[in-house]
Amino acid sequence: MVSPSARVVRLLALMAAVPTVALGGLAMLSQDSKHVLAHGPLISDHAEVACDACHVESAGSIRQQIQAQLHYALGSRATAVDFGYQEVTSKACLACHARPNERHPIYRFQEPRFAQAVQMVDARSCLGCHSEHSEQVVHSAVGVCQACHEGIKVKNDPIDIKHEILIEQKKWESCLGCHDFHGNHAIKAPLHIAEAISAEVIRQYFLGGPDPYGEEKLYEARTE
Ligand code: HEC
Ligand code: HEC
Ligand code: HEC
Ligand code: HEC
Ligand code: HEC
Repeated sequence: MVSPSARVVRLLALMAAVPTVALGGLAMLSQDSKHVLAHGPLISDHAEVACDACHVESAGSIRQQIQAQLHYALGSRATAVDFGYQEVTSKACLACHARPNERHPIYRFQEPRFAQAVQMVDARSCLGCHSEHSEQVVHSAVGVCQACHEGIKVKNDPIDIKHEILIEQKKWESCLGCHDFHGNHAIKAPLHIAEAISAEVIRQYFLGGPDPYGEEKLYEARTE
């Protein structure tokens, strides 16, 4: 049973939520107001991506959702439904970004052997390393490779300071200096550590700066 005071709390929460939700809903629909109500700017490469490419309306009409919220407030529903729009998931990203050559496909990391790694970085979801509504393009650490690559052996290692040594010395920020993460840039990993991109330049890229791996990509994302 839900106590009367808990019901009051839920009702107050509902009254506070309704106007915000109505405005949020309008923001999705009206092109003029979208910049005002969105959480923040989209990353510049997404300037032309429509809001509803990522934000999918919840099942049921707004009226049904309000009713469900009311029933919840009155204690006759066990859980609240999410209001208006569903949580953004990787499914939305993959609709435009699925690639046959993906080096680190997210589905792989569901496997139990990655259980510890995904505690460090949730590689099962695009949103484990990317977000939206901020200029930041990547929010993982530059040395994120450590979560999974402690044990790699590169056969006939061609680089001047061998991978084994880099790992022994915990040079985890060096990896992205020679390899991109997804393998989608048209680049070849250099053989000399002196040619590696510096961690500082990569950090700037993560924050929204120029792409140090160059413009040319093996697969371009869909635009809609
Ligand atoms: C590339 C995908 C993407 C696009 C395009 C996008 N968003 Fe978002 N949006 C997100 C993500 C990710 C979040 C974080 C919250 C979440 O996971 O639902 C978010 C959060 C929000 C929130 C906060 C919701 C909450 O529950 O806190 C609002 C409001 C919002 N977006 C509005 C917009 C509007 C308006 C547009 C169009 C200008 C837009 N978004 C375009 C991905 C996107
Ligand atoms: C409607 C299609 C579309 C959707 C949906 C979409 N993107 Fe994009 N995205 C693009 C396009 C187009 C580009 C620019 C061209 C490219 O990088 O191939 C891009 C670029 C990017 C970039 C590169 C930014 C840079 O500065 O290098 C990242 C990171 C990215 N998207 C992540 C995501 C994530 C994460 C999601 C899901 C939350 C998502 N995208 C959803 C179309 C989309
Ligand atoms: C473990 C962290 C991680 C996860 C998970 C991740 N990314 Fe990335 N992503 C990165 C890093 C690091 C970069 C910058 C290096 C690079 O360009 O490959 C990047 C760059 C990108 C870029 C720009 C370069 C390119 O490949 O075109 C896009 C687009 C992108 N990610 C989309 C996605 C999408 C879509 C998903 C989910 C299917 C995803 N990422 C999951 C870490 C991640
Ligand atoms: C969540 C775990 C995880 C993370 C984090 C991760 N990797 Fe990997 N990576 C893998 C797995 C698994 C493979 C495939 C190895 C195999 O098939 O034997 C792989 C393969 C690779 C390959 C070889 C691809 C090929 O063509 O065979 C490179 C290069 C690579 N990763 C670089 C990186 C870099 C650089 C980072 C950090 C930015 C990173 N990885 C982060 C799990 C990860
Ligand atoms: C100086 C550049 C350089 C640095 C730094 C570097 N690598 Fe490499 N890496 C290479 C080259 C070159 C190869 C072999 C050819 C190739 O795969 O492009 C390679 C191969 C690999 C492979 C195996 C690919 C395969 O097919 O077997 C993995 C995995 C890998 N590197 C991960 C890492 C990780 C993790 C780090 C950070 C500790 C790192 N690399 C640092 C240049 C570099």
